Amino acid sequence: MADKVVLVVGGGGREHALCMELKQSKHVGELHCAPGNAGTSFLAKNHAISATDVEGLLNLAEILGADLVVVGPEAPLCAALADRLEDIGIPCFGPVAHLAQLEGSKLHAKQVMQKANVPTAAFHVLSDTSDIEAALDDFAGNPWVVKRDVLAGGKGVVVTEDRNEARTFINTSIQSDEQVLLEEFLPGEEASMLVIMDGSGYVCLPASQDHKRAFDGDEGPNTGGMGAYCPAPLVTDAVCQKTIESIIEPMHKYLTSSGTPYRGVLYVGLMIPESGEPNVVEFNVRFGDPECQITLPLLKTDVYEVLEAASTDRLAELNIEFHDLFAATVVLAAEGYPNTPVKGRLIHGLSKNTIQSAGAKAWVNHAGTSFDAQGHLVSTGGRVLSCSASGPTLEASVKLAYELIRTIELEGSHYRTDIASRAL
Ligand code: AMP
Ligand code: GLY
Repeated sequence: MADKVVLVVGGGGREHALCMELKQSKHVGELHCAPGNAGTSFLAKNHAISATDVEGLLNLAEILGADLVVVGPEAPLCAALADRLEDIGIPCFGPVAHLAQLEGSKLHAKQVMQKANVPTAAFHVLSDTSDIEAALDDFAGNPWVVKRDVLAGGKGVVVTEDRNEARTFINTSIQSDEQVLLEEFLPGEEASMLVIMDGSGYVCLPASQDHKRAFDGDEGPNTGGMGAYCPAPLVTDAVCQKTIESIIEPMHKYLTSSGTPYRGVLYVGLMIPESGEPNVVEFNVRFGDPECQITLPLLKTDVYEVLEAASTDRLAELNIEFHDLFAATVVLAAEGYPNTPVKGRLIHGLSKNTIQSAGAKAWVNHAGTSFDAQGHLVSTGGRVLSCSASGPTLEASVKLAYELIRTIELEGSHYRTDIASRAL
């Protein structure tokens, strides 16, 4: 029976994707989103409450009588939204605050990986009493990887072959944060593994690869992600098996061994060298954006059943199935993104927001979109929307996603034209 009340927290492309899937669940009767975007307003009731307003969100969940709260971004999790929902007996998809520190603090994540014996780059913690030159010498010969130990929205990492640049970033980070991480450079190719887990078990979603640089050929500044595809052929069965044995199993054991177990999705950012032995680059405590837009549609099992089970430690009871399909998404970014995105521009061409061809289908995921006073669709963020597609082959999905994005007009916008090219 479709009688469940679900609140999705967040307002980007990931949350639009969550709403699209939840809307199709046979269990969901009422869908709410806070704050949502123009796209979610067609699927859910939007509430003007920020994703960082923990009190407001708690209050809303209670008033709605929510059966499930699905948290998109990390900030409310680090601010203890899941802990507070647990206190009032509302199931939450997303971990409690001390487990969310895996994303909130890169140093904490490193310490956990050391404890759990999970492969990751060697590192130094540097403060104003450290011998910075000796640490730089230690990792000389490869680019230096410097990471701030704060939630920095993708802007806290510098990878550079320029010793001066590395030293400067180390010093400014110590000034603002007191300490900073210097990591050994890991060669290889990156892939993401999203693992839904709870106290009873875990399930790995098909591995994906995202494109973090702004421009074609991995040029330009780092972004939140300009596109993604899945499954990523880089993650062969053998690599997947190794990832499960050396990373997922020990992390699941660690995250469920004491107190409230990890309930939600663990985003494992992997570096895969030629040897195929995966290393962890980072953990996030949420679905990736845009990885969510392409992995969730491959889930065959009712998404509410999966998310609700993982929020109540019943995941092991489910037999979770996936479609034998490929998916890809291409992000349409505002002029100036990621440094100085221009907002408030009209978006045209969205009347036809799904297309189908040769067994594939494409759709639009809204991200930074809203309506102006006249009811016209306008851009409100750096990543404005993405065109996603799924189909029997990666080629067909990528082709259709591009076909759809070419029909959308937003002055000054840009998108990468080489999404998934490495896999094709
Ligand atoms: P992070 O926020 O930790 O994922 O780092 C951002 C990006 O920096 C990653 O997606 C990688 O491309 C790169 N990176 C981070 N750590 C390393 C490392 N140890 N070796 C090589 N590249 C890295
Ligand atoms: N697309 C990378 C992330 O969500 O962190």
